[in-house]
Amino acid sequence: MLRRSATQSCDIMIIPREIIEEIQHRSDIEEVIGSYVNLKRAGSNFQGLCPFHSEKSPSFTVFPATKSFYCFGCGVGGDVFTFVMKAENLDYVSAVETLATRAGITIPTDKNSASSEMSRRRVFDMNLDAAKFFRRCLYDEKLGKIGMDYLSGKRQLSQATIKHFGLGFAPNSFGMLTDYMHGLGYTDQELMKGFLCGKSQKTGRPYDYFRNRIMFPIIDTSGNVIAFGGRVMDDSKPKYLNSSDTPGFKKSRNLFALNYAKNHCSEQMILCEGYMDVIALHAAGFENAVATLGTAITSEQARIMSKYTKRVIISYDSDEAGQRAANRAMSVLAEVGMDVRVLQMNGAKDPDEYIKKFGPDRFRHVIGESKTGFDYKMQNILAKYDIVLPEDKIKAIAELCSLISEYPSSVEREVYISTVSSKIGVSKDGIAKDVERILRKRSQEYRNKESREAKMSIKGIGDRVNPDAAKNPHANAIEEAILGLMLLYDEYRNAVASQSIELSEDDFFTELGKRIFSEMMRLQKTDGGFAMSLMGENFTPEEMGRMQKMEHSRRQLTENGWDNFKSSVEALKSEKERISNRANGEWMENLRKRRDELKNKQTRT
Ligand code: CTP
Ligand code: MN
Repeated sequence: MLRRSATQSCDIMIIPREIIEEIQHRSDIEEVIGSYVNLKRAGSNFQGLCPFHSEKSPSFTVFPATKSFYCFGCGVGGDVFTFVMKAENLDYVSAVETLATRAGITIPTDKNSASSEMSRRRVFDMNLDAAKFFRRCLYDEKLGKIGMDYLSGKRQLSQATIKHFGLGFAPNSFGMLTDYMHGLGYTDQELMKGFLCGKSQKTGRPYDYFRNRIMFPIIDTSGNVIAFGGRVMDDSKPKYLNSSDTPGFKKSRNLFALNYAKNHCSEQMILCEGYMDVIALHAAGFENAVATLGTAITSEQARIMSKYTKRVIISYDSDEAGQRAANRAMSVLAEVGMDVRVLQMNGAKDPDEYIKKFGPDRFRHVIGESKTGFDYKMQNILAKYDIVLPEDKIKAIAELCSLISEYPSSVEREVYISTVSSKIGVSKDGIAKDVERILRKRSQEYRNKESREAKMSIKGIGDRVNPDAAKNPHANAIEEAILGLMLLYDEYRNAVASQSIELSEDDFFTELGKRIFSEMMRLQKTDGGFAMSLMGENFTPEEMGRMQKMEHSRRQLTENGWDNFKSSVEALKSEKERISNRANGEWMENLRKRRDELKNKQTRT
């Protein structure tokens, strides 16, 4: 939970972290920034002229993979919230609100906030009653005709499938559901808490939250209706409205259709992006399909999936955003030890469209062909080149070597070196040497840059963000290494939080370092843990930029393991000791001098 005074009213406003994360997920950083800056693609990133300082050649970079931006010229950086703060001169909460509106997400107010005491049972009962209402509306010949036509006509769903998923229709009315639910004894408060009603700004009266939408009930593994997603039937925006988290529902802990899939996934599970994909797959006989609830997959969801199955086939949209999300999902799922495959679909944008176009048998075949993480990335590279041509072959090898060099484990690198060698017909030795060269070059570049920056800060140039850094550049470099690792990896934050590694705010030298450390640890200990997107509330865009740089620097290095972390922590502590000894030494020295001076005076008089 975040607290601060709201912009319009003077009461305290609380934005749940799930909402912040959802807003971030729904706001494509390159799209948002692209509406301010003319961005050009540069590899997997985008570049443009920095809107925050004047420059002739672009050093402003957007990194879609990490949902961040950084200007190598002026050092401003951060996430999509930081950007809007800086560009529109807003505070953090106003920036979050701006992006929420843009993405069609409602920020719960105190009155209907997730922190209320309404019991889970009551919420589930209320949702079940609402689901029955929506279903009755869908089957109503007059009221629900437009919805039924959409589902059975445009989406080609059978009556059996519509029933199976309990689909419904929210009529185009401001009060039908509200009135109906009042009749069943639910209060306005309860309806608002459950996100079935919104509250009119003008009159303060409740109105139906979902209107003129196809309704998808979300059902947990115990059979409770925990939430709803509602889709428009045309191209208007937002395409989906979703219930926000309530006492009975956390998006990050649930998966759509897991209630059915859990009985069909002992071998493998199919993970999709959309509700409609899951429904089409189940209807076609793939009852092991699930989807996240409109958010990127979380490690909690990955852990839940790993309880039911060993293998996951990521089956995301074939567009660029989908493929990028697939890359992220791959690492989240691999982290919980699952066998992860990625499905490659040609000729259709998502599984729903694929099944409609090519039928279930072809889909079953593509599932069989799905690739492991490395193979999938390798294939994407090979698809760009015609390796019969020497120039193309060289380019492809260069990209593959750079891909291999991203893997931190040398065993993994060795395995992939063999894979590439046999795939392309170049000796293992040759590839290994190139990989080695990339790794060396990257470390060297990093070291050069770091020493350049250290020199600059000794002179006190260019570091207004962290003025203390110049006092002890060596300590500052260690600090940045530690913070960079902790910002990147949950395991290090955990180790510090659980005190299996001893590190405290007092060990840091610079004020900025202390502040970053303590805010990060504070968030780590909250319910949902640390997330970069939550830091923007307490740090300026320049400071966010500095954190961005710390992370970025660590990513450039290959040695980011435990040894590295531990030895940095040790180094920071011994630096502290050295300096305090020195200070003590100076103090003693001064004392001695003063004593001698006094003695001299005394002997003179
Ligand atoms: N989503 C959302 N809000 C949006 C858009 C999408 O919550 N404004 C979520 C929904 O859970 C949706 C999923 O992201 O199911 C994937 O989005 P998309 O691929 O656009 O939707 P589909 O489910 O494929 O729907 P359709 O095929 O009807 O376009
Ligand atoms: Mn779709």
